[in-house]
Amino acid sequence: MPEDASRTVLEKRIEEFVDLDDVSNMHYVEIFLNATQRPYFKEKGPDYWLNSHSIYVGALASRLGEEVQKAHPEYFNKHIDIRIDTLFIMGLLHDIGKYWLKDPSLLDKTDTLTDKDIRTLRLHPEIGMVILDTDYLIFGHRDAGDVINSVIAHHEIAKKGNGYPYGEDPHELPEYMHIISLADYHITKIDARPYTIPITEAEAKRWAIEQRFGNVIPKPIFKTWLDTDFNILDDFSHKQEFLAHPVKNSQTLYLTTEKY
Ligand SMILES: [Fe+2]
Ligand SMILES: [Fe+2]
Repeated sequence: MPEDASRTVLEKRIEEFVDLDDVSNMHYVEIFLNATQRPYFKEKGPDYWLNSHSIYVGALASRLGEEVQKAHPEYFNKHIDIRIDTLFIMGLLHDIGKYWLKDPSLLDKTDTLTDKDIRTLRLHPEIGMVILDTDYLIFGHRDAGDVINSVIAHHEIAKKGNGYPYGEDPHELPEYMHIISLADYHITKIDARPYTIPITEAEAKRWAIEQRFGNVIPKPIFKTWLDTDFNILDDFSHKQEFLAHPVKNSQTLYLTTEKY
């Protein structure tokens, strides 16, 4: 697909969720669209799973943010205090570092990952932060510090010490980070990738309860997430394309959260 056509497809999908007349949104979305045109990803086309993953995480983060704001307005204003369109942008860009991996084919490796592969994949938060900071000078733009947080800290929401790159105490992180991480978890569970099989939203919630996510995630966010049927794939016009991602090697299928 020619560059312009692929960009246009993605831009249209993104426009369903965020106002592109806003100059900061425009700048952030441009960063994402440019990334999708890097050679490896351009060849994969607009329906590549990482493109869909990024847009869906943004969409769900903004939906969840809205629901929390409706159900717990005082909590939202005091502890979250962030624009809904910024939540979309944070989700859209959280994995931006993956687009700059030296060997992006690692993203689609269906064999067992080596320790070195895992270390490399786990560089993506830091790579993303450097790209946003040095190549795209995002600090002139709205909520730039929060967007950087969503890139560097989205794998820190884990049991204390188990997250990366820093192993921070998740209770010390800004509370909106839990919205981004939960959206990332949810979408990773329900979507298909070369190395995972999707499960339903209800199953993803059951697993989260079993794993005691509620010990880490603030109650108003976790409860709102559990109580709301997001049916996230049903709401998107390109659901069929999304679900058509091939699962390449059934022997290596496993259920996972987004560990890397
Ligand atoms: Fe990530
Ligand atoms: Fe992700």
